Amino acid sequence: MADLVIPKHVAIILDGNGRWAKARNLPRTMGHKEGCKVVEQTVEDAARLGIEYLTVYGFSTENWKRSEEEVSALMTLFRYYCKRLLKIAVKNNVRVIMIGDRTRFEEDIIEGINRLESETKDNTGLTFVIAVNYGSRDEIRRAVTRMTQDAAEGKLIPEEITEETIASYLDTKGIPDPDLLIRTSGEIRLSNYLLWQVAYTEIYVTDIFWPDFNKDELMKAIEAYNKRDRRFGGVKK
Ligand code: IPE
Ligand code: IPE
Ligand code: MG
Repeated sequence: MADLVIPKHVAIILDGNGRWAKARNLPRTMGHKEGCKVVEQTVEDAARLGIEYLTVYGFSTENWKRSEEEVSALMTLFRYYCKRLLKIAVKNNVRVIMIGDRTRFEEDIIEGINRLESETKDNTGLTFVIAVNYGSRDEIRRAVTRMTQDAAEGKLIPEEITEETIASYLDTKGIPDPDLLIRTSGEIRLSNYLLWQVAYTEIYVTDIFWPDFNKDELMKAIEAYNKRDRRFGGVKK
């Protein structure tokens, strides 16, 4: 175990809060509440393990389709956890970055996110990237809008656009691509998460519901990652 390679960037699709609650005859919201606690714990675990970047999918651009009741409960939780996360980030030297379109949230939530980012920007430990109102296609759409605006203003030469140029217009600008993507609850799909960024990411799916995820499960994913033969299109030396 001592020689395990710790992936630099771990991305997570936390899934199964609703199923976890259903299995216990609890409302879905209780699953989300438990799920938030597990996010906090995972941030601390990742920081201690020496993971440099942890990106967690908290709310997708498609999740607005859920019932008004569920969306509103998620917003209430998010409000509360912005404050808690600030304490955890300060305690663990964690820098927080939000990806996704925050403009759709209510003013106080936007302020909470801005505050989380500005008050942790000089922290030098784990970078915790939280994806809220995030959808990869929406991220690409927003990037293309800005690219075409810059091209029209002469700041960007279309013939000179490289893959790096495109990456620099995405919300994940400056963040290396994920090495390992973990999805809980057994679903084998990306659900509009980091489509550009996961081109060569190793994918690990576990049947565990997110509220049951813990450090042991994280270690299992890292162990599986260590058995992978990453090639990036080349051949093994
Ligand atoms: C993940 O759990 C949390 C969010 C998407 C906000 P779900 O709410 O998707 O739980 P399931 O998939 O219905 O069990
Ligand atoms: C993905 O989970 C979104 C987040 C984890 C925030 P979903 O539960 O929304 O994904 P689908 O609908 O099962 O694909
Ligand atoms: Mg789900």
